[in-house]
Amino acid sequence: MSNPLLSVEHVSKTYVSGGGLFGQAKSARVVSDISFSLNRGDVFALVGESGSGKTTIGRMLLRLIEPDAGRIHFDGIDVRALDAGALRRLRRRVQIIFQDPFGSLDPRVRIGAAIAEPILLHRLRPRAQVADRVAELLTLVGLDGRHAARYPHEFSGGQRQRIAIARALAVEPELIVCDEPVSALDLSIQAQVVNLLGELRARLGVSYVFISHDMAVVRHLATHIGVLYAGRLVETGPSETVFTDPRHPYTRMLLAATPSPVPDVVRQREAIAGEPPSPFSTWSQCRFASRCAHRMEPCMAGEPVLAQAAPAPRLSACLRAAELPTFAAVDDGEERMTAAYRTRLGLLRHARAAADAEACSSQRQAAASAVSALSPH
Ligand SMILES: Nc1ncnc2c1ncn2[C@@H]1O[C@H](COP(=O)(O)OP(=O)(O)OP(=O)(O)O)[C@@H](O)[C@H]1O
Ligand code: SF4
Ligand SMILES: [Mg+2]
Repeated sequence: MSNPLLSVEHVSKTYVSGGGLFGQAKSARVVSDISFSLNRGDVFALVGESGSGKTTIGRMLLRLIEPDAGRIHFDGIDVRALDAGALRRLRRRVQIIFQDPFGSLDPRVRIGAAIAEPILLHRLRPRAQVADRVAELLTLVGLDGRHAARYPHEFSGGQRQRIAIARALAVEPELIVCDEPVSALDLSIQAQVVNLLGELRARLGVSYVFISHDMAVVRHLATHIGVLYAGRLVETGPSETVFTDPRHPYTRMLLAATPSPVPDVVRQREAIAGEPPSPFSTWSQCRFASRCAHRMEPCMAGEPVLAQAAPAPRLSACLRAAELPTFAAVDDGEERMTAAYRTRLGLLRHARAAADAEACSSQRQAAASAVSALSPH
């Protein structure tokens, strides 16, 4: 079996604050002992409530935040051991897209120049070909190649996020960390951008670490999911099985708390009861215990480790993972959804089907070339 494109092992991050002349230093362990891996072409979604550590993990992958402990390997390269020059080269292969499409573009720079900058910096095309490459990238993300001379404010939020994606693609990355890339956009625009990411995955083979709190978006894009609670992964596995058969009470809570797309349906309030713990907490019990309806005595005796919970490769950090009852997903009934949600669902489904079809056709082509390479000439 080939090595994973990205491998993250036991990564942690602690912030220390205070500790001046009169104060006592306080440690906030915001990310604890994170391990996961991703193969080429995979989409690993990191989901969890606000403050659970998603952005910290995403930024640590590119060393925009330095981890305190653990190992990160990209295509076999030890990311934590890289010097400044090697790190710059790595950041050509691994890109990041942020939530705010306006904030990530300089309002004074024409979008063509913004997209051209990394191409010139990394000398990816002769200078004379850069304008054509910019137009090609704009077309690839569904924008008009002739709009390169415009400024960011001349575009809508969804178009600006497409520009940010074109800029990330300019360096032909193998992995893109997407940190809530659609959260700031309208429902239907969200679906279009998610579609685009899915298409690019199928056409260019780009892999993603996709950070989101929106389970509907994650379901349509992710191949694998990592559920983060208070800085720790509490469940991981292939996307479809995590959605249909969650093996951690927190995953179930997140799924149950997804806002209903039906106007008159209010989801069960107990589904979102309780607050996440403070990052200053220390743990001698399951960190989800204060909110868990399945808690029992042994849960207070130590923190459960992430262990196999169902057929491999499913993992859960719950002592009762195997006993949890079958999960009854809430069926909202498409016909009762608001028009905006129905449109979004339709677009997301279309994206999935198109991406799957494209992936099948690339696999068929690869298989055909492999066969013809084997055939005697
Ligand atoms: N520089 C810092 N110093 C101290 N604490 C920090 C710092 N940066 C982040 N934190 C804390 O780390 C925790 C994780 O933050 P992070 O931004 O990674 O969460 P998140 O899951 O991305 O949240 P959101 O969904 O709101 O974006 C939070 O409790 C945050 O307050
Ligand atoms: S270990 Fe216990 S408290 Fe923790 S999630 Fe499982 S059942 Fe709940
Ligand atoms: Mg964040």
